[in-house]
Amino acid sequence: MSKTRIVIIGAGAVGSTTAYTLLLRNRVDELVLIDSNQHKAAGDALDMNHGMPFLGGAKLWAGTYEDCRDADIIIITAGAAQKEGETRTDLLKRNVSILDSIITEVLKHNSTGILLIASNPVDIMSYFSLKKSGWPVNRVIGSGTLLDSARFRYLIGSELNIDPRSVHAHIIGEHGDSELPVWSLANVAGTELALSEEIKADIYANTRDAAYQIINAKGATYYAIALALDRICTAILHDEGAVLNVSTLLENYHGISDVYLGVPCIVDRQGVREVLQLKLSADEQELLQRSADKLKGLIGSITL
Ligand code: NAD
Ligand code: LAC
Repeated sequence: MSKTRIVIIGAGAVGSTTAYTLLLRNRVDELVLIDSNQHKAAGDALDMNHGMPFLGGAKLWAGTYEDCRDADIIIITAGAAQKEGETRTDLLKRNVSILDSIITEVLKHNSTGILLIASNPVDIMSYFSLKKSGWPVNRVIGSGTLLDSARFRYLIGSELNIDPRSVHAHIIGEHGDSELPVWSLANVAGTELALSEEIKADIYANTRDAAYQIINAKGATYYAIALALDRICTAILHDEGAVLNVSTLLENYHGISDVYLGVPCIVDRQGVREVLQLKLSADEQELLQRSADKLKGLIGSITL
């Protein structure tokens, strides 16, 4: 059997925590860290390698773009992160230009892997990666609203005192301020959620603003996104057919096309195998359209 390899480009808070998560969960045979700050990547690799006697035998090293050659998945977590008071879309210009140079390098060495984008604003970065790479849409995936949906399920579960894994609820749209909760379909074992409108409004606000709260408290978010990226990688490598709210190119999704947004998708070894069309209420459709319009406006503003 051939070895599985994941390359992580950007060994900052998100990239290194993702590497550590993949190692702890024994997900992959080979793990490569690439960062423009080579000392940082080398230091992280050394630190994690010292834990190998306690782990499952994966090989990990700080590498170069040549190591993308045999990669099954290339995760991009490089670029600027929000500082306090910034939104994700404030990062657009800086991160598009960083991504442009990264994808150019990746394309020299790999044409068959899956690009998994986490850098923000993630939906626009994913759209840009699709256009820049020319790869099929199923193989260019954004982390989308998987993290937001996890936050949403956690908050609903806490309110109802129910395990979040048993809460079925979706955040869709932009991974950012225009994201929306699909309350019309949220349920526990098919039963409606016993939540007042006021509590629902609080849960949504706390979901949408979670990153601001965490950045305000400690400067960055990285544990939950690392678990979300691990979840997507596992669905791919194990050919699971898992339904995950990743960001993908929409084509006539409630009339929305040519923009990446987070929606439930079936994820397997091909990447995004299928996009699931949720039955949305009229209000939810309107909010999704607004989220798409916002991102399309921003995509139109990109110049390199
Ligand atoms: P960070 O500053 O800790 O790390 C970024 C890393 O990118 C640094 O190590 C830097 O040296 C590296 N880098 C910069 N330019 C590079 C280049 N050209 N090539 C290679 N490496 C380069 O930031 P972070 O907290 O790890 O966040 C990384 C990104 O992930 C940000 O854009 C952040 O907004 C985003 N993020 C996304 C989600 C999500 O849900 N999608 C969650 C958290 C963070
Ligand atoms: C998040 C990042 C900042 O934690 O996008 O939502």
